[in-house]
Amino acid sequence: MLVNMNEVLLPAQKGKYGVGMFNAVNLEMARGIIAAAEKANSPVIMGTAEVFFSYCPLEEAAYYLIPMAKKAKVPVVIHLDHGMTEEACVQALELGFTSIMYDCSLESYDVNVRKVKEMAKLAHSFGATVEGELGHVGDNEGSYEGEHGMEDPSAFFTDPEVAKDFVHQTGIDALAIAVGTAHGAYKRPPKLDFDRIETISKTTSVPLVLHGGSGLSDSDFQQAIYSGISKVNVFTEINTAAVEAMFRQFTSFNKGMIDLIPATVESIKEKVLEKMEVFGSCNRA
Ligand code: 13P
Repeated sequence: MLVNMNEVLLPAQKGKYGVGMFNAVNLEMARGIIAAAEKANSPVIMGTAEVFFSYCPLEEAAYYLIPMAKKAKVPVVIHLDHGMTEEACVQALELGFTSIMYDCSLESYDVNVRKVKEMAKLAHSFGATVEGELGHVGDNEGSYEGEHGMEDPSAFFTDPEVAKDFVHQTGIDALAIAVGTAHGAYKRPPKLDFDRIETISKTTSVPLVLHGGSGLSDSDFQQAIYSGISKVNVFTEINTAAVEAMFRQFTSFNKGMIDLIPATVESIKEKVLEKMEVFGSCNRA
């Protein structure tokens, strides 16, 4: 069933488990994600990000994402991840996405507050939820999400007191925080600031979001969730799991594209299931 983010994150915040957000840039990814959620009887957040529109335009993604969520046996949120422009966010709402992230984290604080507050008002009028970002989660080199490498990521960590004000002023439903993760494949093991997560979870009321989930250890995830994270974003790991499956499956040029589809879907399903178990969201649908 198609739901918004509050319907899955508020119970997660209360029950101290995490709900995974996985981008589904094509139909195979979406099939794998839904199959995993149904098998695990887990809520799930699925979507696409503005940076992926060149691979699959938002409108075309909506053609499969929304009907698949409606048909699913478990709660599915259809979310625009990292909406960078007002146009993309508004288009997602008009297409029926039940949740959007409006990422103005590289703007000044005042601009971030003003833009996200306006977007939250609009999204709420659609019955949709909004995620904002404060501080800035950077990207590892070669990340699919972008190229915002940072010399000193800790300089962009989220300030707990500012987070309190940001949530209060904007009216957002979930807050993405910068606590040591980055998008894409890590070159060195990330070092998460768990104390900061805990402090932010005490100063703000809304569910907290951890971006850059690929490459984190199971214990990092569990400690982050224990410290106050309710939503965990993972993309790179499912993207590379799929291509590894295709590579294993492609044994000769007698094979066609369709021969690779079942293994691709299965690899996504297995990877998503693995994460759901770690996040503790199984049997929470
Ligand atoms: P990874 O690609 O590093 O898993 O990050 C996903 C993400 O945070 C999407 O917003």
